[in-house]
Amino acid sequence: MPAGTQEIEKAVEVLRAGGLVAIPTETVYGLAADAEDPEAVGRIFKTKGRPPSHPLIVHIGSAEQLDDWAHDVPDTARLLAERFWPGPLTLVLRRGRRVPLETTGGLETVAIRVPDHPVALELLTAFGGAVAAPSANRFGSVSPTTAEHVRAELGDDVDFILDGGPCGVGVESTIVDVTGATPTVLRPGGVTREDLEAALGHPLAVPSTSPVRVPGQHPSHYAPRARVVLVEPEDLVAEAARHTGEKVGVLLPPPLAGTPIEAHAVVPLPDSLADYARGLFSYLRTLDQQGCDLILATLPPEQGLGLAISNRLRRAAGPRSFPSAPTQ
Ligand code: TXA
Ligand code: MG
Repeated sequence: MPAGTQEIEKAVEVLRAGGLVAIPTETVYGLAADAEDPEAVGRIFKTKGRPPSHPLIVHIGSAEQLDDWAHDVPDTARLLAERFWPGPLTLVLRRGRRVPLETTGGLETVAIRVPDHPVALELLTAFGGAVAAPSANRFGSVSPTTAEHVRAELGDDVDFILDGGPCGVGVESTIVDVTGATPTVLRPGGVTREDLEAALGHPLAVPSTSPVRVPGQHPSHYAPRARVVLVEPEDLVAEAARHTGEKVGVLLPPPLAGTPIEAHAVVPLPDSLADYARGLFSYLRTLDQQGCDLILATLPPEQGLGLAISNRLRRAAGPRSFPSAPTQ
């Protein structure tokens, strides 16, 4: 059920008491706490099982509040905020004094965004401050795109869940560092590289294949319990047949629609990249629930939202440096 006034009030109460609230955003659900309260922020890390050196994103209610949370905000940041907020863009800026080091993982920079979701914005207005919120999943696992995903994964470890329906974008925000001489994309996401380049008027270097070396980004992330193997489209059918001893799940790309394939579960992918992004994390969760041992996937073209989808699939298939995601 979409959240009403009573739910917003309850959520504000929980935040003020230093508790954790799962909040809907247009990208994925976030696990929110008062960004100014180091103890509350500490609870986020504990609940997620996330190392405290991994910085969190600070969510604010409007671009006008930017200077309350960051200092020396460059013109480029203002331009991007004006163009893309509210929306799936996170800006890395110099940390304002209101943001404790616990929230930034000890960094002198802070990641900030204005989420484009009516429930999140209503909450931020009612709360008056800012909330720190990573995706509301255990460390390393797949981000939640429904309140039900959060409930299944975090249960009673979260004090309150605000239900804002399924997330519209489905992959996390694009992170752009604007503290250097030129803006750098640290994570591809809901705002496309093409849109950023159009706004800035120049090309951008965007990581997709290589793991990004920023705090809090691991080669394996967004990983379901099943192992994920990336294959070329022309090898998909043969690869599935090679693994008949295992429960194989397949993300079947549109050009192969209708192709007979030996598998335990098949998700036919939608034609549009926006629909694919919206569904991606749900597909991975569903294949886990269906008991798949192995998920075979192909990479979409790395254009538009295809870049973010491809980045998440590469990370899901990356080497695992921590215990596999918890069962649901
Ligand atoms: O769409 C999103 O961004 C979602 C929703 C809930 O807003 N949040 C999200 O948070 O994806 P999380 O914690 O899962 O990812 C935060 C990312 C991390 O990869 C971290 O490295 C990066 O933001 N980050 C945060 N602060 C940073 C900083 N000061 N410098 C560089 N990277 C930073
Ligand atoms: Mg995350």
